[in-house]
Amino acid sequence: MAHPNPPTQPQAAKPRQRSLLRCIAIVILALIVLVGIAVLIIWLVVKPKHLEYSVENASIHDFNLTDANHLYANFDFSIRAYNPNSKVSVYYDSVELSVLYEDQTLATNAVAPFYQPHKNVTRLQLRLAAQTVALYGSVPKDLRHDKSSGVIELDVWVRARIRFKVGLWKSDHRTLRIFCSPVLLHFSNSKGFERTHCDVEL
Ligand SMILES: *[C@@H]1O[C@H](CO)[C@@H](O)[C@H](O)[C@H]1NC(C)=O
Ligand SMILES: *[C@@H]1O[C@H](CO)[C@@H](O)[C@H](O)[C@H]1NC(C)=O
Ligand SMILES: *[C@@H]1O[C@H](CO)[C@@H](O)[C@H](O)[C@H]1NC(C)=O
Repeated sequence: MAHPNPPTQPQAAKPRQRSLLRCIAIVILALIVLVGIAVLIIWLVVKPKHLEYSVENASIHDFNLTDANHLYANFDFSIRAYNPNSKVSVYYDSVELSVLYEDQTLATNAVAPFYQPHKNVTRLQLRLAAQTVALYGSVPKDLRHDKSSGVIELDVWVRARIRFKVGLWKSDHRTLRIFCSPVLLHFSNSKGFERTHCDVEL
């Protein structure tokens, strides 16, 4: 019985297809490796340094702690933001600042978005208002004690959404967390403010 030979073409095409696929896979792999090496080289050349923060000046005004333990107060802060990088600039797309006393948030405020060029110092001036903040636990008692002693110890938290820019390349959003503690405020204006350095976490 003469069976027709199975067509030879698919058999010949299969290995060719397979080698084509292998070729594409190798090219893609090589591209990934090359891009990885390029990113690494750029990163090493650029060598990003940590952003530096400090509280340069701070004061407290209009302090009023009512008998019902509600707090009114205005806090003025001058914060120094330094970008020590010579090739990396920073977009601050949102910046939120909170002032805390013994883990209780007293006031929160936001800074307008800004762009920080490389090797730049930007000073952020802002006022945080505590308005009828209900205090709990030992906070009212401790605040009254601090008021009579003339100095109050606070923590300042900053949370920012930032992007880095290197040449034309811009990074994705990252969250920058800044923690300044202890920030010592004097109720009397005649006492100077001692600069507080902040921890920066990216
Ligand atoms: C710090 O702030 C207070 C109150 O706003 C101001 O009187 C004082 O001059 C400031 N000090 C410095 C060194 O800027
Ligand atoms: C503090 O707040 C209370 C309640 O609002 C008010 O009656 C009082 O006059 C305020 N005291 C000062 C010194 O502003
Ligand atoms: C930092 O950058 C801001 C915004 O571009 C600019 O207004 C300011 O003058 C710069 N400061 C310094 C010290 O270069």
